[in-house]
Amino acid sequence: MHGDRYRGASDTAIRHHYDLGNAFYELWLDESRTYSCALWDGPGDDLASAQRRKLAYMAEGARATGAGRVLDIGCGWGGMLRHLVEEQGVGRVVGLTLSPSQRSSIEEWADDRYDVRVQNWADHEDGGYDAIVSLGAFEHFARHGMSRAERLEAYRAFFRRCRGWLPPGGRLALQTNVAGRARPLDRRAVGDMMFIIEKIFPESVMPPLSEVVEGAERSFDVVTVRNDPDHYARTCRAWHDALAARRAEAEREVGTEVVADYLRYLSACVRQFERRDLGLARIIFERV
Ligand SMILES: C[S@@+](CC[C@H](N)C(=O)[O-])C[C@H]1O[C@@H](n2cnc3c(N)ncnc32)[C@H](O)[C@@H]1O
Repeated sequence: MHGDRYRGASDTAIRHHYDLGNAFYELWLDESRTYSCALWDGPGDDLASAQRRKLAYMAEGARATGAGRVLDIGCGWGGMLRHLVEEQGVGRVVGLTLSPSQRSSIEEWADDRYDVRVQNWADHEDGGYDAIVSLGAFEHFARHGMSRAERLEAYRAFFRRCRGWLPPGGRLALQTNVAGRARPLDRRAVGDMMFIIEKIFPESVMPPLSEVVEGAERSFDVVTVRNDPDHYARTCRAWHDALAARRAEAEREVGTEVVADYLRYLSACVRQFERRDLGLARIIFERV
């Protein structure tokens, strides 16, 4: 186990977000309950098919098709685990989450091919995976307030562990938000960022793409990188509109203040991706 210094967001901070209640997220996520950026294709596309396309892109990028055993780090409500088993013919999947309610939700439909653990990747001791995927979790692997050197240490620790779990040539498909660095934030963007850090995702941090790649040095080679900020703007807009359409039900689940905060957070994210304050990296890594 690593010391706390280089751990990312605490279990409490993660539960603050993901344990709000499965019923709340069901109201505005697509039917696979995927809570990460979709991969859109054309103006007529819908969220559910864009999420399926993304799951396939990441699974195939990791060369998970037909694999014996695949690890999903930060498995959420299990959409990728199910895709791996049902669509990619994977024999066994292991999913890690810090949220007990996510695991309970998966256990409602999963059979013995699914092994879902409430466990930090830093405490995961198994190995022998053919492929690894991780979508929308890397943002939680370092904390707001860490120095660049501390973040890099945390990211290096993560990549070293993934490397140890894979055979030579094995792949890790990673999707994460990244901090846009092309121009300074405006006042509104700074206010929105602070609101998100304080109220929505405590203790998390958006890594610059350079730090993700540097963290992987000496563990992985980069095969491909895509930056898809417009895909995340469109995904956040779809989530925002779905939540707004079911506002009354959502307020009954979590209260008016939380729903107002989520609507603000989702519309702030649309703006941040459109302005390129945030990017969305999909990186295929290969163990050398
Ligand atoms: C935004 S959700 C993404 C879920 C899923 N990958 C998807 O695309 O729908 C982030 C997930 O990462 C998990 N997580 C965050 N930090 C983690 C850590 N250190 N170890 C394992 N899982 C973690 C959370 O519990 C949550 O399931």
